[in-house]
Amino acid sequence: MANAFDVLVIGSGPGGYVCALRAAQLGMTVACAEKRETLGGTCLNIGCIPSKALLQSSENFAEAAHAFADHGVMVEGVRLDLARMQARKAEVVAANVKGVEYLFNKNKVTWLKGAARIVAPGRIEVGGTEYAAKHIVLATGSESTPLPGVAVDEKRIVTSTGALELSAVPAHLVVIGAGYIGLELGSVWRRLGAKVTVVEFLDRILPGMDAEVAKSFQRVLTKQGFAFRLSTKVLAAQASDSGVSLTVQRTSGGAEESVTADAVLVAVGRRAYTAGVGLAEAGVALDERGRIVIDAHYATNVAGIYAIGDAVSGPMLAHKAEDEGVALAELLAGQAGHVNYGVIPGVVYTWPEVASVGETEEALKAAGTEYTVGKFPFTANGRARAMGATEGFVKILADKATDRILGAHILGPDAGTLIAELALAMEFGASPDDVARTCHAHPTLSEAVKEAALAAEGRALHI
Ligand code: FAD
Ligand code: NAI
Repeated sequence: MANAFDVLVIGSGPGGYVCALRAAQLGMTVACAEKRETLGGTCLNIGCIPSKALLQSSENFAEAAHAFADHGVMVEGVRLDLARMQARKAEVVAANVKGVEYLFNKNKVTWLKGAARIVAPGRIEVGGTEYAAKHIVLATGSESTPLPGVAVDEKRIVTSTGALELSAVPAHLVVIGAGYIGLELGSVWRRLGAKVTVVEFLDRILPGMDAEVAKSFQRVLTKQGFAFRLSTKVLAAQASDSGVSLTVQRTSGGAEESVTADAVLVAVGRRAYTAGVGLAEAGVALDERGRIVIDAHYATNVAGIYAIGDAVSGPMLAHKAEDEGVALAELLAGQAGHVNYGVIPGVVYTWPEVASVGETEEALKAAGTEYTVGKFPFTANGRARAMGATEGFVKILADKATDRILGAHILGPDAGTLIAELALAMEFGASPDDVARTCHAHPTLSEAVKEAALAAEGRALHI
């Protein structure tokens, strides 16, 4: 039957498209339905890729405007061409989404254009045509969580999607939520000249990250001109032609205050997206937070239907979704696909970057685990000094009893790349000594990782 496939994936984000590619590699016939005009999901279209394009461009702008002179590079009259910056971002996105289309063609994955709906076990409908499959994979992703009292119009009160599209630099941007999106997109607009105020419900930024790292990071961002209002809630926001008026209050109570802004970014988290897929009719169970319930092999409660990525539990990260896509395709092919959820790195792509893998110090304390800490600051790293990027440090946490590395946290230049070494070390059950005895090239930032490993053994050399 022409419309029958071994695997039918719904959603072409990093979870869905990678699952489709891996299943095709393993010899299965595969189709992937996508209701967006282009492939690649949130990540490639309105998430990871456009945000990293703007982070890079805005960093270049800030460097040229403020940092080049330190290096003896004198440039005058640095100007922002925001329209060109936005056009470049669109080109980067277009190249990436076309790349997925190329990969689908290369691997003979059929792209079903349109919204898919499950009509019966093993059958879906897209654009009025029915398709059959042995296995249906739900990879429908997530959407921005709304905040009561703050109505998004994607012009003045925006989610990340609108914040990636602003056509002018707002004089004052209020960011609600000091998480990944708030700090990354807050950084973009801060570097381009906006005054940025971050309003956060909790008494700290980046909840879930190591508290010591988050505290240092907040100091760095404050030096960059960010203003933080922690332990504060937004009660309401009223948009008009001239701006937005917000009503805020300390979480401990007290008087309500008014804050005015030119734009407001709502970044208080994301939630699973499953609307319109026919899950209720098919009897697929959701948990109390609307996420699709799966077992250890990504199977839902309905035979033949599986789910991965942001639509299920776990960190809402592209690489987590991808790894689940690979693992599921391998399981469907009768192999032993597996994801190690203890070793999923998280990176905030600001300047400096924040990167984390494994346990935080707070989690180890709470679990009563005895641990050693090794820390090394970038001020003592020759390459960081040469770069003029000495803020931050590497922190490694190891089990006192077994010597295994349990977690690693980095605030510093290129932390997102540096963390990969420690993730690999953790996958191999390495100790700080294993990392320290590995030869690291000089002069590189990675020597700070080696020195933090030495420090965990009480024998750092360069401090
Ligand atoms: P998604 O990428 O959300 O894809 C789901 C797709 O399913 C969508 O294209 C949707 O249109 C489609 N779909 C839904 N229902 C249907 C249907 N019925 N029929 C057909 N198609 C359907 N993560 C990182 O790891 N690194 C980053 O730097 C990063 N930056 C981010 C920046 C921003 C601004 C945002 C918002 C997110 C960012 N993320 C980042 C998170 C990352 O985008 C997600 O974790 C990732 O996209 C999840 O992949 P997914 O495949 O589960 O879902
Ligand atoms: P987040 O969960 O990272 O941060 C949300 C923040 O908002 C938290 O600090 C939370 O305490 C705060 N908050 C919640 N309710 C609030 C309220 N009512 N008032 C004030 N603050 C409130 O969520 P975010 O930034 O929206 O991003 C969503 C997800 O997208 C991330 O968790 C991450 O999984 C993914 N993402 C990943 C990126 C990366 O890997 N670099 C970049 C961007 C997004």
